[in-house]
Amino acid sequence: MSERWTALNLADCDPDPFTQFRRWFDEALGLVREREAITLVTATRDARPSARMVLLRHVDETSFGWFTNYESRKARELEENPHAAILWYCEPLGRQIRVEGVVAKMSSSASDQYFASRPRGHQIGAHASHQSEPLASRSDLEQRVADLEVAYEGLEIDRPENWGGYTLTPSFFEFWQHRQDRLHDRVLYWLESGAWRLERLYP
Ligand SMILES: Cc1cc2nc3c(=O)[nH]c(=O)nc-3n(C[C@H](O)[C@H](O)[C@H](O)COP(=O)(O)O)c2cc1C
Repeated sequence: MSERWTALNLADCDPDPFTQFRRWFDEALGLVREREAITLVTATRDARPSARMVLLRHVDETSFGWFTNYESRKARELEENPHAAILWYCEPLGRQIRVEGVVAKMSSSASDQYFASRPRGHQIGAHASHQSEPLASRSDLEQRVADLEVAYEGLEIDRPENWGGYTLTPSFFEFWQHRQDRLHDRVLYWLESGAWRLERLYP
């Protein structure tokens, strides 16, 4: 067993999966370049799935959050079908976390606050990009950025209406720990009558 792989025993799992998540997330600090990178899986109304990476920008006691364009493909799918999954992987520790739940838009004030904290170049980029729409050439995007830089010179940049956050409120977590000979540890958490239940799964 690698010195970085530690057993995941049911008895050691925190009864609250958010606490367990934070424990693993904290332990990954400094071990991977983009610790906040997660896969977000959405699906259309007729259950055709699509996946992409986003950055985890919010975790509290009840939800996970990220920011994006509200007219993007993922946003269109979330509009049709609010059920989504997120996936986090930490190779050096041999750990995977799966989370599934229901997604809602963040409040405007939470999105405003996060947008205001972003570097100016990112703010301009959010205005410039019609995310997931066809782009005839890279130079069209660069021209939009240049025009916006002129338009906003010396001014604060407001959050575009079509850009903001989402939160996912989970009803399911799975913590997966790599172990030797594919005999991995898996612990499932699910909600029953408002309380988290835990059980071990075969690998
Ligand atoms: C590591 C990584 C992090 C990313 N983070 C974000 C993000 O936080 N928000 C976002 O809108 N796109 C992010 N992207 C880009 C998305 O993966 C995707 O290309 C984009 O959001 C459009 O997806 P959609 O067409 O499915 O809506 C990231 C890509 C990578 C590789």
